[in-house]
Amino acid sequence: MNQLGEEIAKKVKDAEEKLIPSVKESPYRAAFHLMPPVGWLNDPNGLCQFQGTYHVFFQYSPLNPDGGMKAWGHYISKDLVRFEYQGAPILPDEEFDKDGVYSGSAWVEDGVMHFFYTGNVKEPGEHDYIYSGRGANEITFSSKDGIHFSEKTLLLSNADYPENCTCHVRDPKIYKKDGMYYMVLGARLNGNGKGDKGAILIYRSEDLKSFVYDHTYTTEETFGYMWECPDIFEIGGGEEKQEVLSISPQGLEAEEYRYQNIYQSGYFIKGSDEFIEWDMGFDFYAPQTFEDEAGRRILIGWAGMPDADYKSRMPSDEWQHMMTVPRELVYSDGKILQIPVRELEAYRKKEIPVIPGEKFSFEDISIDFILEGKNLSGSLFIGPECVVECKEDEISLSFSGESGLGRKLRKAKIQEIHKLRVLIDCSIVEIFVNDGELVF
Ligand code: FRU
Repeated sequence: MNQLGEEIAKKVKDAEEKLIPSVKESPYRAAFHLMPPVGWLNDPNGLCQFQGTYHVFFQYSPLNPDGGMKAWGHYISKDLVRFEYQGAPILPDEEFDKDGVYSGSAWVEDGVMHFFYTGNVKEPGEHDYIYSGRGANEITFSSKDGIHFSEKTLLLSNADYPENCTCHVRDPKIYKKDGMYYMVLGARLNGNGKGDKGAILIYRSEDLKSFVYDHTYTTEETFGYMWECPDIFEIGGGEEKQEVLSISPQGLEAEEYRYQNIYQSGYFIKGSDEFIEWDMGFDFYAPQTFEDEAGRRILIGWAGMPDADYKSRMPSDEWQHMMTVPRELVYSDGKILQIPVRELEAYRKKEIPVIPGEKFSFEDISIDFILEGKNLSGSLFIGPECVVECKEDEISLSFSGESGLGRKLRKAKIQEIHKLRVLIDCSIVEIFVNDGELVF
């Protein structure tokens, strides 16, 4: 680490030492969701399993609970439920990432973890930082143990992107196909005043060291002005095998049952135009997937929403945001089911009987339960102000009063509700409908 890195590292350590004791006392800390030790968290980054250990890096602003300087924080886990904080190893300490170590991913091969991320640079002067003034650099570094990290190497910068791109190009994710590596980047194509267009850029490489432009992909009709955090992966075995493109588009217009948040995340299955949202709740963005050593495809999302008009922090709290629980993805009949990883079940302590249709509130703050039955209907109260309502062809999640901090109503169409798995963890609720057919 260079001298600037050491100075930033000291500031991070000081902030953590000072604030960890009060953050630990926060009444809103969850028991089994991954949170920042102090400060702000957004996207999951560099997800992988390496020699048995899971690694979750994350967009981390330790110095301010409302964001700011972006570094990569680092957690490890043996079981995807209990995470140990490892510090913030990747800091904005080079010219090419001086205004933020932005999102990126990991690729594990032959005993090496290769990492890729976007170095954000803001040039001084009068700029809008969309069409001018922003450097978007794709950078790599590696590790052979998850503890020591190599020097950073610059791979691509603005001059390497197609001419019709704005300065918003970012979030590299790697996949391999027929022996060739591909890097997918999220991009905002310049509409020259006629509306920008979200897209992905694909670069290819034989050695993960040099990348050449391959092609741009986008939908025929504009689908949002920017696509963030793209991810391309395969799911389902044999005849069932499907190629999936997951993106976090910005700029879709809200509809009654779709795109209800300011920004979205969802996926296309190759050959279909249908965009399926990963999550219908208030707080879900920038998910990333990885394949673990057992061959499971696992997704983690940021349980947060940038630029939302509701809040996720009480003024007295020196931290903000968390991740969703890791969800195993299973392909079934044209869509992807999301199921909390089975490791969570080992932490269940006792069974709590619940009676469908009856009102009740939860004494326990961390609870994982299942409601099952034919054509479930009625209201499930999660505390006095939060209610899940199951109707014949619709399910909704709503808040009344203060506790939603501005959250009101989210709803989705669904045919027959026969199962709800509800994870309540102090200040977060995740609801899996019909074995992960729909999630809030
Ligand atoms: C998504 C995102 C990414 C970017 C990162 C910066 O939430 O905007 O596109 O890399 O956050 O923190």
